[in-house]
Amino acid sequence: MPNKEFPIKSKLPNVGTTIFTTMSALAKKHQAINLSQGFPDFDCDTNLKSLVTDALNEGYNQYAPMAGLPSLQNALALKINNLYKSNIYPDEITVTAGATQGIFTAIQALIHYGDEVIVIEPAYDSYIPSLQLAGAIVVPIELVHPTYSIDWELLESRITNKTRMIIINTPHNPTGSILRLDDLNELERLVLKHNLLCLSDEVYEHLIYDSEPHQSILRFPDLYNRSIAIYSFGKTFHNTGWKIGYVVAPPRITSEFRKVHQFNVFCVNSFLQHAITEYLNNPETYLHLPQFYQEKRDYFRQLMKSSGFKAIPSKGSYFELYDYSDLSDLQDEQFAIEMTKQYGVACIPLNPFYVNKHTHRVVRFCFAKKKETLQAAAQRLTSIKQVALL
Ligand SMILES: Cc1ncc(COP(=O)(O)O)c(C=O)c1O
Repeated sequence: MPNKEFPIKSKLPNVGTTIFTTMSALAKKHQAINLSQGFPDFDCDTNLKSLVTDALNEGYNQYAPMAGLPSLQNALALKINNLYKSNIYPDEITVTAGATQGIFTAIQALIHYGDEVIVIEPAYDSYIPSLQLAGAIVVPIELVHPTYSIDWELLESRITNKTRMIIINTPHNPTGSILRLDDLNELERLVLKHNLLCLSDEVYEHLIYDSEPHQSILRFPDLYNRSIAIYSFGKTFHNTGWKIGYVVAPPRITSEFRKVHQFNVFCVNSFLQHAITEYLNNPETYLHLPQFYQEKRDYFRQLMKSSGFKAIPSKGSYFELYDYSDLSDLQDEQFAIEMTKQYGVACIPLNPFYVNKHTHRVVRFCFAKKKETLQAAAQRLTSIKQVALL
């Protein structure tokens, strides 16, 4: 029988391989140092790994409760309320299979066909496909280059009577910018005035530098009342492959979230939840992170001073943007590909994070790497005089 084609109507016709997969594959092919994808090249704490092994051996191998292990919800409520002076109850927390599932489930639960959602660009790549699957109309607002701050007047001008949600991300991937108190006050004003929801992606909550506080939406009770906040243990505990995180939302939003969550994953693996509950007993496991990563940011930035790249200072996340306009006229995607092939260092271009393409000569480096990796990469990067098509 001939292999007859049958029609499949794609629900995401414009989605291909992500830029992270593309750049990591290119890095592998050319044996380049990979500062592209956002994950550490060092292992997580051996104490945490022992707790996971213990949990497996103690037999925590069956389904966990749908919303998460009560002891983990309790530990998280304690952590959150200490950090953000909030008043979150354990049952406002739902454990998820990483932040990506939290974002996806929140959007499916809260967004209806035809709702407009404001997405601040450059934006993490899962937001828009998740919105499209929910039938939302994406309204992109660009961060102001090169500070990558939000123009709140512009944002308010794009709110209509169909606007349902604003998605924010602080500290921000890919720019390393953060939202400050004034931003959160403005966000709260707009959300209340226009009767909106807010999805706040805070996966880099502990990766914030120069003694700045993380302005979580959980600090603002009126804003929180209309919000869902998203977190990832992968980012906090250096184990992005474990895919475990949680969301925090007031009871009415949590109730809608769980209606979808239970048919999306039902629950998250139990042994990691047991291990992480124990690990959270020691707040030092996350409180040391600003200093730990700031040292890496500063080390890489110092090494890059003698290069043709100009840093756009990162205030949070484990990314720093670098302007390469003195080295090349190439558009950023071409630049990233050629640099990987010719100089053996992979980075991430910013254009894939935008709906409307831009012309800034800027790429993202991930500094969540061992010192020797950062040093070896900087050695190659400082040798670059020009990047052109071969
Ligand atoms: C801003 C942002 N949100 C969400 C995620 C996804 O986190 P997880 O791996 O826990 O799904 C990432 C991962 O890179 C991210 O950078």
